[in-house]
Amino acid sequence: MPIRRIRRAVGRYLRKRLAINTTPTTTWQVLSPGVEHSWSGRSVVVTGAAGLLGSEIVAAFVRSGARVHALDVRDGALLELASRHGDRVITHTADLADAQAVQRSAAEIARRTTALDALVHCVGFNDYPTDPMSITAESWQHIVATNLLAPALVTSALAPALSAVQSAGVVMITSVNGRAASPWPHYAAAKAGLSKLTRDLAVHLAPRGIRVNAVAPGWTEPITPSGTTPRAPRVPLTRSAIPTDAVVNAVLFLADPAASPCTTGQELVVDAGVEVGLAQTVDGYR
Ligand SMILES: NC(=O)c1ccc[n+]([C@@H]2O[C@H](COP(=O)([O-])OP(=O)(O)OC[C@H]3O[C@@H](n4cnc5c(N)ncnc54)[C@H](O)[C@@H]3O)[C@@H](O)[C@H]2O)c1
Repeated sequence: MPIRRIRRAVGRYLRKRLAINTTPTTTWQVLSPGVEHSWSGRSVVVTGAAGLLGSEIVAAFVRSGARVHALDVRDGALLELASRHGDRVITHTADLADAQAVQRSAAEIARRTTALDALVHCVGFNDYPTDPMSITAESWQHIVATNLLAPALVTSALAPALSAVQSAGVVMITSVNGRAASPWPHYAAAKAGLSKLTRDLAVHLAPRGIRVNAVAPGWTEPITPSGTTPRAPRVPLTRSAIPTDAVVNAVLFLADPAASPCTTGQELVVDAGVEVGLAQTVDGYR
């Protein structure tokens, strides 16, 4: 099923689940790139770089002066990304759940860049099963390989280049699904595993001067040109979707050693309060 149809179907599901009134009444202030993160002269790697969040994160790093190695399995989408940014983005096509492909990409990166300042993992996938009890073994394997194994393999392969700079930042993109009840148990379990991996890698890589953190977004969408988003009364901040800018800013904060030099092993939830709000309903809030 094409990704746009899946997104629309999931959007419909979430609107129903969170009792979202689809009349757009809330105005988002589009976040300006106001927080000054200077990445001039620095090199970063973004996995899943051709996707919705990955391409926004690549663009933010490029705007801040960085040179970006963009990794993804989709060759055509990577070419499109490169055409937008010229020689500031170097693309690498690879299935990042394949250990040998990861080693080849790491070797290519090492040939061009001896030191890496940040590594952001957007690689991930969900096939949005409708029946949580009928998920096939193949689906479980693919979801765990893409959301958990891939970031683990890439982080290990690039640890030497990350340890060549002071306080390099690794940022995982986990999900609120890994923290609260989820309709997609395989995806939620893989993301919860990634949260745990974040904490353990933070400990194991700290002696090498590498910080490891995560951003856990709620349902994320690009902001509309009018800056509006449907109201969701049961979500504490009444937003039905997180604008991609909010996730990008959180990622840049955690990646940047100047902004978060003493933060490691943490997960920053960017979900408009969905997780804490759902917990409140148990107390009779509904
Ligand atoms: N968009 C959301 O609402 C949302 C919310 C919470 C968490 N997330 C997480 O954020 C990350 C990015 O989400 P997105 O919305 O940009 O998704 P997306 O599908 O647009 O992007 C994911 C990218 O990963 C790539 N990819 C998948 N498998 C791969 C593999 N084996 N090797 C290399 N590349 C591979 C895809 O080609 C794609 O470009 C994902 O990990 C997702 O689970 C997204």
